[in-house]
Amino acid sequence: MTNNIKDKNSQESIRLEISEFNSDGSCNSELEGKKFKVFGAIPGEIVLVNIVKEFSDFTVVNVSKVLKSSPNRIEPPCEFYLLCSGCQFQHLDYEFQLKLKTKIVTEEILKNENFKHVEILNTIRSDKLYHYRNHARFTISKKPPLRGNLGFVNKFSRKIFKINKCLLMDHKINYLIKLIQGKLIGMSQLSIRVGANSGFALIQPDFQDIFSEIKSGQKKITEYFLGNPFRIGSPSFFQVNTKQAEKLSELLVEHLSLDGSEMVLDTYCGVGVFSVLLAPFVKNVVGIEISDSAIEDAIFNSRHLDNVEFIKDSTEEALKKLDFHPDIVILDPPRSGCKKNVLDSLKLIKPKKILMISCDLESFMRDTEILCMNDYQLKLVQPVDMFPNTKHIEIFGVLEKLN
Ligand SMILES: C[S@@+](CC[C@H](N)C(=O)[O-])C[C@H]1O[C@@H](n2cnc3c(N)ncnc32)[C@H](O)[C@@H]1O
Repeated sequence: MTNNIKDKNSQESIRLEISEFNSDGSCNSELEGKKFKVFGAIPGEIVLVNIVKEFSDFTVVNVSKVLKSSPNRIEPPCEFYLLCSGCQFQHLDYEFQLKLKTKIVTEEILKNENFKHVEILNTIRSDKLYHYRNHARFTISKKPPLRGNLGFVNKFSRKIFKINKCLLMDHKINYLIKLIQGKLIGMSQLSIRVGANSGFALIQPDFQDIFSEIKSGQKKITEYFLGNPFRIGSPSFFQVNTKQAEKLSELLVEHLSLDGSEMVLDTYCGVGVFSVLLAPFVKNVVGIEISDSAIEDAIFNSRHLDNVEFIKDSTEEALKKLDFHPDIVILDPPRSGCKKNVLDSLKLIKPKKILMISCDLESFMRDTEILCMNDYQLKLVQPVDMFPNTKHIEIFGVLEKLN
């Protein structure tokens, strides 16, 4: 029975029965012909909700009270949950989160008739459910009453709310927040990156005039990754969950069956993590990267290896000019995925294997489907939980050339 009844504590509450999950972490519900996107719910539950925002074709609501609870529900530990855009799954127990991520990926892949044969593995769990992020970007309020306070932006009102800690962040980041909160007058943004393994910190911008006792304004940081030191310049990309990124990197070697004769092309290579880790197992690695800072780091990080080279260019342009034939291509593009001409070039280059790594299921599916139209077969998909308690899923896919 679905009735629009008012919660006795709140004039605004609406009673909803919850149906399936959406890809943004919300759930669907319908009442008297009206569609709702419900945050903080689980399919099968009956909840009271508060309206957050109304659109012409649906209304966004947050759960205010659970009337019939799912067995997979837990108490979200963060006081800012549902206000902040960082986490969507804190109210789900971790086993359920992992199963849900595998289900989301499986359903998306099986929508394509040609992918019925694909081996889809269970999502690789993260040992840490909280405090796994090595990088934080905060907004600082310039106006009273929060002037000088750092925080996040409310996902609905877009107003800054002050935080004293974020449960996703490394403990060292939260320690720093405690020291500086409320004293950041005149600043608008703050980035803190820490080495989860090395313990080093990189704080931007330089605020030594306010906090002389805290080192800031560093240009680079060193992080140990599977025992190897990597220099990471302040503007360079580096995976935010070091431990899970290590597990992801190990998948490369595990799924490549290398015999040492391979030429590997590591596109969108960042500071050269995959290039450096694969170098001992293959003949040559060539990395491609567009960012000046990341390519300088990659060259520095591979200085002890004589079979690694880097091309500073866009993957789009570098593939057009490639003067060797790679056996294996690693594709690890930004969230938006590969440009169409990258996929067109790969069809001409014809590597035997393509490893596709993506933090976005939609662009992963789009790019994989294009590659698999004639030339490649998607053999295996391995989701990795790089971002526990959030809707985000890292996806690792193995594509093999059809004869
Ligand atoms: C998701 S990161 C992957 C980095 C690396 N594989 C790693 O795991 O550390 C994507 C990288 O692609 C770079 N990038 C973005 N657009 C690019 C393009 N068009 N061509 C080459 N590199 C690009 C970014 O600077 C970033 O370093």
